[in-house]
Amino acid sequence: MPSTVKVFDTTLRDGEQSPGIALSCGDKVKIAHALSEMGVDVIEAGFPVSSPGDQEAVRRIVGEGLDSRICGLARCSRKDIDAAIDCGLDYVHMFIATSDIHLQHKLKLTREAAKEKAVEAIEYARKHGLAVEFSCEDATRTEIGFLKEMHQAVQAAGVEVINVPDTVGTIGPPAMEHLIRELMTVTKVPLSVHCHDDFGLAVANSHAAVRAGARQVHVTVNGLGERAGNAALDETVLGLMAFYEVDTNIDTRRIGPTSKLVSRLTGYAIPPNKAIVGANAFAHESGIHVHGVMGAPSTYEAFGPELVGVQRNIVMGKHSGAHSVRSKLADYGIELDDAQTDHIVDKVKRLADSGKEVDDAELVALASHILGGRESKKVKLKEFAVFTGMNTTPTAVVSIEVNGDRKTGSATGIGPVDAALNAIKSVMGNDIHLVEYRLNAITGGSDALCEVSVRVSKDGGKSLMSVGKAIGSDIVQTSVDSTMEALDRLYCRKE
Ligand code: KIV
Ligand code: ZN
Repeated sequence: MPSTVKVFDTTLRDGEQSPGIALSCGDKVKIAHALSEMGVDVIEAGFPVSSPGDQEAVRRIVGEGLDSRICGLARCSRKDIDAAIDCGLDYVHMFIATSDIHLQHKLKLTREAAKEKAVEAIEYARKHGLAVEFSCEDATRTEIGFLKEMHQAVQAAGVEVINVPDTVGTIGPPAMEHLIRELMTVTKVPLSVHCHDDFGLAVANSHAAVRAGARQVHVTVNGLGERAGNAALDETVLGLMAFYEVDTNIDTRRIGPTSKLVSRLTGYAIPPNKAIVGANAFAHESGIHVHGVMGAPSTYEAFGPELVGVQRNIVMGKHSGAHSVRSKLADYGIELDDAQTDHIVDKVKRLADSGKEVDDAELVALASHILGGRESKKVKLKEFAVFTGMNTTPTAVVSIEVNGDRKTGSATGIGPVDAALNAIKSVMGNDIHLVEYRLNAITGGSDALCEVSVRVSKDGGKSLMSVGKAIGSDIVQTSVDSTMEALDRLYCRKE
């Protein structure tokens, strides 16, 4: 078993083949930077021949001079290889299907013809200075004698790495371990593995391949990829570290932020219960668990959220107890005695029992109400206007009274909400940070009601945090209202 394993990320190629994902060139460049900063060894940046857009994105990524090695996908054809060369690539991931089912029903080729085609294409790529990683597509359903023959032939033609794709996700860990051990007997170049998740086994199969000697894993951020997706980068890497003491070049603290970036740019939400980067992966609701975690996080956490760059979250619900309520409200500077705590716990349980979500803003509002509410407002919105349209930069102007002093400020933004929140920041000072912004549509239609929740901090840390929530039909106004509520709470707090 190797002590280190290379990470080959195919978010921008197999990941982009997920139904409904179409990343712009700029978004691909942003993701490539994040992958490189995270320490990915190889980025498969696209499939150059597949579209002019893919070609342009691969060319741009090659030109960025990233630390990761950049690779592009190619079939065993001169046209595909030329398209890769045209992008400035010096590394191609070349493939041909080798299972009888693919040869007969898709390629209409004999095994011998497929082998010849592969060898000829590899020789062509090598002659043009390209390094080649080779995949026998559908390797796990290919007759093993022929698969070994292919491995021998492509090695003789000069490949650098041979990848073993479980194209349809049909193998299990013991068989994968056996297959890799068998292939190692004829493969002298490093073996890689590419697992799909059709049976939910992509990560376990990748680990099994490494156990048997594979020295590279193909992964995607958030497990994106064809159908059920590919092995998720986070789960594969953390599992290798935890169970096998196998190192990678990945800076695990970049996993959470990169996962969020990819989710935002692809529009693919991360399931809340997804391991490691799901919203619930470090969320604790029940009183027993919160009490345990507050004493020692290892009571109910396999590893700390800081290892993967995400935060622990104490969630309110019908299982909440005094520890959760006290600790959560302490984050917002609200101290409670025993009677007040009991009162709030009782309210939270009743609300949760009736099916209502009790988020931070709701909890703080509940506590403020029980503790006697706020004094007169210290932060008041006096005027607000936003200008937006086509071919114009969204611009906002706000006038705010803080402790009786009126200040006016303006700012631009990516959209009207961004401009409005930037204008508020320009008045309130740059030490005010918007930590979280959540927008939910409550009703449908163009006149839908929306709910905006925001979390702001004053010093960048947890010591001065506040939340606000508002409901309205105008997204910009509702965003401003919720932010003003959060700021007023921050200024009304007894330090
Ligand atoms: O799953 C697969 O077989 C692939 C190939 C292109 C290697 O993605
Ligand atoms: Zn694939």
